[in-house]
Amino acid sequence: MHSTRRYRRYDPAMTIGIGIAGAGTVGGSLVRRLVEERSVVTAKTGLDLEVRRVAVRDLSKSRPSIPSGLITDDVMSLVSDPEVALVVEVMGGLEPAGAVVLASLQAGKPVVTANKELIAARGPQLFAAAAEAGVPLLFEAAVGGGIPIIRPLTETLAGEQVDRVLGIVNGTTNYILTSMADDGVGYEEALAEAQHLGFAEPDPTADVSGADAAAKAAILAGLAFGTWVAPDRLHAEGITSITDADFKAAEQLGFVIRLLAVAERRPDGVSARVHPLMLPADHPLAAIRGATNAIYIEGSSVGELLFAGPGAGGEPTATAVLGDVIDAAREHLSGSQVAPAIRVEPGDVVDFGKVDTQWYIRLDVIDSPGVLSQIAAAFGEAGVSILSVRQEGRGDRATLLLVTHTAPEAAQQAAVATLRSLDVVESVASVIRVESEEA
Ligand SMILES: NC(=O)c1ccc[n+]([C@@H]2O[C@H](COP(=O)([O-])OP(=O)(O)OC[C@H]3O[C@@H](n4cnc5c(N)ncnc54)[C@H](OP(=O)(O)O)[C@@H]3O)[C@@H](O)[C@H]2O)c1
Repeated sequence: MHSTRRYRRYDPAMTIGIGIAGAGTVGGSLVRRLVEERSVVTAKTGLDLEVRRVAVRDLSKSRPSIPSGLITDDVMSLVSDPEVALVVEVMGGLEPAGAVVLASLQAGKPVVTANKELIAARGPQLFAAAAEAGVPLLFEAAVGGGIPIIRPLTETLAGEQVDRVLGIVNGTTNYILTSMADDGVGYEEALAEAQHLGFAEPDPTADVSGADAAAKAAILAGLAFGTWVAPDRLHAEGITSITDADFKAAEQLGFVIRLLAVAERRPDGVSARVHPLMLPADHPLAAIRGATNAIYIEGSSVGELLFAGPGAGGEPTATAVLGDVIDAAREHLSGSQVAPAIRVEPGDVVDFGKVDTQWYIRLDVIDSPGVLSQIAAAFGEAGVSILSVRQEGRGDRATLLLVTHTAPEAAQQAAVATLRSLDVVESVASVIRVESEEA
């Protein structure tokens, strides 16, 4: 029997009106490319994309690359303007970005966004609105900037059982960590250099606290496992407490330190978290330096995959946004689905305390007989066993570098709490989780 299904042919000469909310780092690059490279895009894709409206906050700013007459400070006019068929949101933040995205979808307009904060906070609601309206909501640039990772996860790997995703998804912190390790500079100096080079914002809190990476971890977990991890179920730690002594210890132990977004499938549910991690020096992510981002995927059939490249910057990010615009325009014109609908469920999210972790602990102790046995007892009581101990003497004081075996996070924390209460322990100078080869 012949199928009766017919796909509508689209008229390649038909022009698609694009409305863009935001003309900053990403939006500015996007508008310039859509205007200056319009014929190149048409030659490559057969689509004629025309920028019809650009919404900004401040009308008084000079924007020489944006044709006059397109600029407005009324962002909701993108939704109501019949000349705008497709909306790009590159303004950032939850509101009014969230209202523009939702209203555009509800008006039947395809939406492209680079806004990880919005997708992490309201992904399920927005995916449902897109499915209800039958239009695409695409967000390739929301994780990894110019690195293709959303499409690989949702399309190429749709038939794969992904077990684990590890991501260096914040260029600022990776730049700071690799500068501290390679150049021996302190945290403040590395941060100032990152700000000077434009990798870090004047207020770097969202980056160095792990909050930016946490939004990306939630998105990666949702797409890899179909389980949405609400922001309040996601454990996030930043890099501000890591010191030069930790980098020296890591080197002695054969590790490098990276801030990682971790998303993993476990028998009892999904875990998503962000924290510094000591990686073996030969791990594929150990080679990722400076502001580069990378996402490493372990799948049960495909094995290991590594996606790496520029995680930010106007031009690379605009490339990802433009790719989405082209896909959304194709879908809009053809009337047939190009991008798969994103399906996510609340699902089981594992408490961080139950996740198995392995720890590096740097301790300053009084160097006297019986110290090691007290420390070993603290671990033993918590049910954590010690993998290795290195001691560096400092007269009547010593520094111990301990690495534990894998144990539930809550047990590791209990052991460290006991250590802090011991008279022989002067300070627990640092704790960093270690990429486990035991799990
Ligand atoms: N920058 C990157 O490398 C990068 C990488 C990946 C993803 N992203 C994401 O892309 C989005 C945009 O980032 P960006 O770096 O391009 O931001 P940005 O440089 O701060 O630009 C934001 C733009 O949005 C406009 N805007 C802000 N609030 C507005 C409002 N209420 N109404 C109308 N316009 C408003 C601003 O107008 P004015 O120009 O008048 O201030 C500006 O043009 C964010 O979601 C970000 O997370 C950025």
